Amino acid sequence: MKILAVNGSPTTKKGMTHILLDLFLQGAAEAGAEVERFNVVDKKIKYCDGCFNCWVRTPGECIHKDDMPAILDQVAAADALILATPLYVDGMTAQMKTFVDRIIPLVEPEFEMVEGHYRHKSRISKIPGIFLMSVCGFWEADNFDGLVDHIKRICKNFQADYLGELLRPNSYILAMDDLFPKEVAAIHEGIRQAGREFVTNGQISETTMEAAVAQPIPKEPALQGSNMFWAECRKQKKFIFHHRDSAV
Ligand SMILES: Cc1cc2nc3c(=O)[nH]c(=O)nc-3n(C[C@H](O)[C@H](O)[C@H](O)COP(=O)(O)O)c2cc1C
Repeated sequence: MKILAVNGSPTTKKGMTHILLDLFLQGAAEAGAEVERFNVVDKKIKYCDGCFNCWVRTPGECIHKDDMPAILDQVAAADALILATPLYVDGMTAQMKTFVDRIIPLVEPEFEMVEGHYRHKSRISKIPGIFLMSVCGFWEADNFDGLVDHIKRICKNFQADYLGELLRPNSYILAMDDLFPKEVAAIHEGIRQAGREFVTNGQISETTMEAAVAQPIPKEPALQGSNMFWAECRKQKKFIFHHRDSAV
């Protein structure tokens, strides 16, 4: 399986999205996947201008001369596209959406009716299936509902398969191995295992998913701990989460 993984977090290696994606891709590679990855912020990807030149004047080719044409070749060659984004105000980051909008040259302008709904035809044989990975600060899994719905709709829009999701709320637990070494190691292993199962079985088992999204700190104490953390950040006038300083 050829995987193209896209990280839409502006914090790149200092972020929880990176940790989640990295562990998953370790598992995927162990299971034999060929993995390519990039951070959206490391690439030059301009906003879509909405000019439709990529549909009519230069079909398949955008007017912008940036990194996107080469990335579209990678998208076209992939079996699976992983979109990894933190939850920002209940959706994907602006960086990730900028990337997704620029996939438009891979579809044709003409509509076709699919199960009673207008869809675009693909310009390539098939746009790869999309697997969603996300992290968020709040504790509850339902915070991802809007994002999951959006990605499923994007899949229908592009006539791509929706390949599933791995969603990690209470994201900062991923880097709290100093405070909860055993629990965090088990979460990390769950995420790695999810990557293996994704490649081997095309889906992630319930047991593995439970391990990956386990909540070692119950909801109320987690809220109090979080508020104490922010109080300290305010006192020091900086975001003092250690992973920000240690990530290379
Ligand atoms: C602009 C912004 C908006 C956010 N919106 C949400 C949100 O709606 N729900 C939520 O649970 N977390 C929200 N968060 C928290 C992030 O999802 C969380 O900090 C995550 O770990 C950030 O990803 P990163 O670690 O890769 O930088 C937001 C963070 C930022 C900076």
